[in-house]
Amino acid sequence: MSSHARRHARQQAGASTFLVAWRDGQPVGSCEVRWDGCAAPEVQAAHGDCPEINGLGVWPQSFRSQGIGTALIRAAEELARKRGGKRIGLGVDENNLRAAALYSRLGYHPAAPYLDRWSYQDVEGVTHQVADACTFMIKEFHLDSS
Ligand SMILES: CC(C)(COP(=O)(O)OP(=O)(O)OC[C@H]1O[C@@H](n2cnc3c(N)ncnc32)[C@H](O)[C@@H]1OP(=O)(O)O)[C@@H](O)C(=O)NCCC(=O)NCCS
Repeated sequence: MSSHARRHARQQAGASTFLVAWRDGQPVGSCEVRWDGCAAPEVQAAHGDCPEINGLGVWPQSFRSQGIGTALIRAAEELARKRGGKRIGLGVDENNLRAAALYSRLGYHPAAPYLDRWSYQDVEGVTHQVADACTFMIKEFHLDSS
């Protein structure tokens, strides 16, 4: 099953909400809000009740740094608040310093280190396992925060 098919299945099951940003009728970014939290066992153990903004991305690259990513994050936070949530989190690769800076500016704080484990198939059909060092960051909602 492709990663998008898995996302679709999760949304159909009510476990997530897929958000798409549009400009002039074109999709320019997306993310998935996983209501069941981050899949990594380290994060599940410590923060399993914290919904996760997963797979955040803006494309093409020329559309970045125009506020689209921030708008997606804000929309995810709003959804979480409407469900009565008190916080939301997201994972960031420890090498992705610009994204981490953005999340800090938006009120997210480092909460737990973890390994993001995923796999891919090369052109010869060989499966490779990858584990990226990441940090799960959490934003606590306050009554006066936007
Ligand atoms: C990270 C990302 C989703 C942010 O979306 P965006 O629309 O560029 O974000 P905004 O315009 O709301 O905010 C831009 C700020 O985000 C930060 N940022 C984070 N990652 C960035 C990136 N790869 N390129 C540009 N800016 C980035 C910068 O500090 C930037 O500030 P600036 O405008 O002063 O340069 C987007 O840049 C992206 O898709 N990057 C590649 C995929 C990725 O890294 N996803 C995050 C996984 S945790």
